[in-house]
Amino acid sequence: MPEFRDWTTLIPLGASIAAVTFLTYKAFGPGSKKKNMINPDIRKDLAKVADVFDIEDIGDKVSFCRCWRSKKFPYCDGTHNKVNQETGDNVGPVVLKHKE
Ligand code: FES
Repeated sequence: MPEFRDWTTLIPLGASIAAVTFLTYKAFGPGSKKKNMINPDIRKDLAKVADVFDIEDIGDKVSFCRCWRSKKFPYCDGTHNKVNQETGDNVGPVVLKHKE
């Protein structure tokens, strides 16, 4: 007859299985893909976000967003400052202007 073992001996194994399951869920579960996306919510109905501008239509200067958080995307509205504060990142717009 097998010897009865104290159930507490199974705690380390159970904890290890729970930890691996949790880490796998965090890495590959729902929401993990979105967290790694550059674009969190701009025109998500499109397969690709692309904008074309005629250079003649650009005034003296225009700033295009590169943080993907601007409410006026594709134009920069300064939201990158808040994003940088929250994340420690250093993103900013690309600025086009005519030569002076
Ligand atoms: S708001 Fe995105 S770069 Fe300025």
